[in-house]
Order: sequence, then structure tokens, then C-alpha cells
Amino acid sequence: AEYETVLVEQRGRVGWITLNRPDALNALNAQVSREVSHAAAAFDEDPGVGAIVVTGSERAFAAGADIKEMEDMTAERMLATDHFGEWNTFAAVRTPVIAAVSGYALGGGCELAMMCDIILAADSAKFGQPEINLGVIPGMGGTQRLIRAVGYYKAAELILSGRIMDAAEAERSGLVSRVVPAADLLAEASALAESIAAKSLPSVYAAKAALDTAMETTLAEGLAHEKTAFAALFDTADQKEGMSAFREKRPPEFRHR
Ligand code: HXC
Repeated sequence: AEYETVLVEQRGRVGWITLNRPDALNALNAQVSREVSHAAAAFDEDPGVGAIVVTGSERAFAAGADIKEMEDMTAERMLATDHFGEWNTFAAVRTPVIAAVSGYALGGGCELAMMCDIILAADSAKFGQPEINLGVIPGMGGTQRLIRAVGYYKAAELILSGRIMDAAEAERSGLVSRVVPAADLLAEASALAESIAAKSLPSVYAAKAALDTAMETTLAEGLAHEKTAFAALFDTADQKEGMSAFREKRPPEFRHR
């Protein structure tokens, strides 16, 4: 497929999606949402891809939804066109997605990072939901996902005040799994993505689905989901391979699918 706002590339078993609207600090307009979602869905359908990395530039992961595109919108058109609906496709991929964040991840940029499974941050990263300064609120999941990531009180402060936090605070808060020197960000993301992509795909899909379930449901329902998913993996060749490799003290050779 031809893309204009993102660079899409497969390296080994890892799919890379690089936001590429440098003039707008990677602001997320309708075309970006279509292209990112399309690229992620295509990688998701390819069993040769076991992990996806989404990244931006050194200066900005994404500085938000495109304010200039939204400025003249009406409520009627927002609802009728489901302005951010395309992102549901992105959020629904089964393949693990790593957000490699350098620079600004604000508003929709922070929300895009939170649609991913793992957030790695450069020490230069800045996270926030500044929509309140524009007379609106987060609209791509921020009010819901930030609370689940950092807890009610921290999320409330950030969303109500619009304050931006640095990478160290984001890591302390549990939003970011690791902070690395900016120069190492892509190499670290690549190594992490490759390590995930080397696992058995059915177990990786099952793990992501179980994690997603935990975000959505009660403990009892989540444990029931886990029990079923765990049992189902015992019908995969990769489970037999993984466990016999352990017994034989050798690395497993997963079929992936
Ligand atoms: C459109 C944007 C943009 C955005 C930056 N740009 N962010 N365009 N939408 N979200 C554009 C600028 O207009 C400018 O282009 C160029 O990118 C460079 O930005 P500058 O402001 O000149 O850079 P700098 O001075 O370094 O400041 C960086 C910044 C600032 C602090 C990140 O750009 C900023 O505050 N951006 C907006 C952050 C924000 O409010 N995000 C939330 C968006 S709302 P030109 O051509 O003008 O020079 C959102 C909510 C979704 O995401 C749901 C709401 C319904």
C-alpha cells in the first residue's frame, strides 16, 4: 500500500510504523489515523510479523490530534463521522504493539501510545493530556486509559490541569515501562520487539488478549478467561516444543503459528 503520512517497513519479524508529518509534529489527522490503522491491520494479518513498533521523530512522537483539522468541526459532524473511529482498528490488533516515544506525546499522541501494549520512552519524552487548554477533553481514550495506567488521582490532575510530565515521572507513574537514553530508543525498541516476535504466536496472542481482558472486566471473569486460554494453548505444537526444549535443555524452535 502507498502511505503518505507514515513510513512502513518490515525488518525481520518486526513491523515498523513511523509517523512522518514533521511539519506538524506528527499531529494525527484523518489520513494519519487511516494509514496507521491500515498498516497495523496489514501487519496483524501477516504471520511473518510477531510484533509492531510505532514511533515518531526525535522531537515528537505525536503532538496530538490535528487541532487545525478539528477547529471548525461541529458536534453533529464529530458524531456523524465518528472522527476518531478509525483508531478502533488500530487498538484491536492481536499483535503486540510497542510505542517508542521520543519528544512530545501529547493529547492524541499520548492516547495513541496508550493504545499500544508497551510504552518505551526516551529520556526526552513528554506526556500529557492538554486538551483542557483548548476547551475540550481527551477524545481518543485518554480519560479511560490514563486512569487505568496511573490511577484516578494522577490521571485527574493531568487531565484537569493539562500539566505535561517528563519521562521519569511517567515511568514512576507506571505509564512507561522503561526510560532509555534518547540515542538508544530505537535499538531498545527493536531488541524488545524482536524478543517478543521470536515467541510462539498463539501464546503471544493469548497473552495480549488476556491482558486486554484484565483492563475490561472483573477479577473473577478475568481469571475464568485466563483459565480457558491457558488450557487451549496445550493443543498447540509450540507448547509441546517449548516444554520438551526445556526438558532437553535447548532453546525452543517455535513454529510461530
Ligand atoms: C496541529 C500542530 C499540533 C497539533 C503542533 N502543531 N501540534 N498542528 N495539531 N496538535 C504544528 C504547529 O502548529 C506548528 O506548525 C508545528 O506543528 C510546530 O509546532 P510549534 O508549536 O511551532 O513547536 P513548539 O513551539 O516547539 O511547541 C511544541 C508544542 C506545541 C508544545 C508540542 O506545538 C503544542 O502545544 N502543540 C499542541 C499540543 C496539544 O494541545 N495537543 C493536544 C491536541 S488535542 P505551524 O505551521 O503552525 O508553524 C487532542 C485531543 C483529541 O489531541 C481529542 C479532542 C477532541
